[in-house]
Amino acid sequence: MAYDFDTLINRKGTDSLKFDFAAERGYPGDVLPLWVADMDFLAPPEVNKALEAAVSHGIYGYSEVKKDYNETVCSWFENNHGYRPDEKWLIKTPGVVFALATAVKALTEKGDSVLIQPPVYYPFYEVIRDNERKIVENPLKEIDGHYEIDFEDFERKIEEEKVRLFILCSPHNPVGRVWKEWELSKIAEICLKNEVYVVSDEIHCDLLIGDNRHIPFLKLAGELADRTVVCTSPSKSFNIAGLQVANNLIPNAILRRRFAKEIDKTGYSQHNILGLVAARAAYESGGPWLTECRKYLAGNLELIRSFVKEKLPAVRLIEPEATYFAWLDFNGLGLDEKQLDDYIINKAGLWLDSGRIFGESGKGFERIAYATQRSRLLEALNRLANGK
Ligand SMILES: Cc1ncc(COP(=O)(O)O)c(C=O)c1O
Repeated sequence: MAYDFDTLINRKGTDSLKFDFAAERGYPGDVLPLWVADMDFLAPPEVNKALEAAVSHGIYGYSEVKKDYNETVCSWFENNHGYRPDEKWLIKTPGVVFALATAVKALTEKGDSVLIQPPVYYPFYEVIRDNERKIVENPLKEIDGHYEIDFEDFERKIEEEKVRLFILCSPHNPVGRVWKEWELSKIAEICLKNEVYVVSDEIHCDLLIGDNRHIPFLKLAGELADRTVVCTSPSKSFNIAGLQVANNLIPNAILRRRFAKEIDKTGYSQHNILGLVAARAAYESGGPWLTECRKYLAGNLELIRSFVKEKLPAVRLIEPEATYFAWLDFNGLGLDEKQLDDYIINKAGLWLDSGRIFGESGKGFERIAYATQRSRLLEALNRLANGK
C-alpha cells in the first residue's frame, strides 16, 4: 500500500472537536472518541502539498475561483459517478449543513412542512426546527438488518402534511444505504406529482463499500431537476471537513438565484482560500489515495463484522453499503437508555454517537465512525467486549 493508514497520529491538543472537547461535552477526559465524522488519517499527500505551497506563499487575501475550479468539480462527478453536471449549476457554501439551511430558507416559508427519513443525520432536524419550519418524519423501515423506504407512508405524509421540501440523505447517514435506481425514481415521481422540492445531500457519495454504486439524484430526476438542490463536498472523502467547502448543484436558474440571495443575506461572500486549494487538489489528484483509503476502511469494517459476531453476539451490525459508519443495534442487551449510556461511556470508555440523536427509531443503537487506525478500532472493540 502506497499510503500509511496504520500509524497512530496524536490529534490531542490540535483543537480537534473529536479529541479535545470531551470535558466540555460532558464526557470523561479519557474516553476514546469515535463519534464525529472525520478521519484520523492524514489527508492525501497531494492535498497537503498544495496546502503547503499556499501557506509558504504566505498571503491570504480574498479569493475567488476561476472556471477551471468548476471544471475540476464537474469532472470528478463525471469520472467517478457517471454524471457530468453543468458548471453553471455550481454554488459554493462553507459546508453542506450551511447549504441545507440555505435551501430550507430559499425554498420554503415559515411553518411549511419539510420531510426527513429518520434515523437520520441530526442537523437535518436542526435546520428545519431552527428556521421555524415543521418537521415531518417518514421513518425508514428496518427489515432483517436492511433499511428501506416506506413509500406508502412517504406519499401519504407528503399529501396529508402538504410537504414542500424533502431532504434526502444519499447515501444515508447513519444506516449506510446506497439508494437504488428504482428507489430514487420513485422518490422523484412522487415529489414531482406533489410539487415537492428535493434537497439531496450526497456528501458521502465517494465512500462506497464493495460494488455499490452511487446514483446522483440529478441523473434520473428528469423534470424534477428543476426543483432539486444537490449538496456535495470533498470534505468527508478526503478528510478536509475543517476547511469548509461544499459544492452545491442547482440546475434551475430561478432556484439558484433564490439560494444565492439567502447566502447574501448572511453576509458571506468570498470563500476560504485554503479550502478551495484543498478541494481542487483533492478532486484533481486525490483519487488514488481515496481508492486505498476505501480498501483500508473495508478492512476496518471486516474487523467490526467478525468481532461483533464472535465477541458481541447480542449486538447486531447493520451492514452499510457506503460511509464509514457502523450502525450497531444494542437493543439485544436489554438495557434502558441510561444503562446503555453508562455501558458505552463509563464501562467501555468510548465516545460514540448515541442512536437516539438520529431520531426516535435510533434508540438502542450506537454509531461508530470507524475511519481510524485499525489498532485504535480494535482497542475500542475490545473495550466494548471487556470494559476499559
Ligand atoms: C449527511 C451529512 N451531511 C452533512 C454533513 C456535514 O457537512 P459539513 O461539515 O460540510 O456541514 C455530514 C457530516 O457528517 C453528514 O453526514
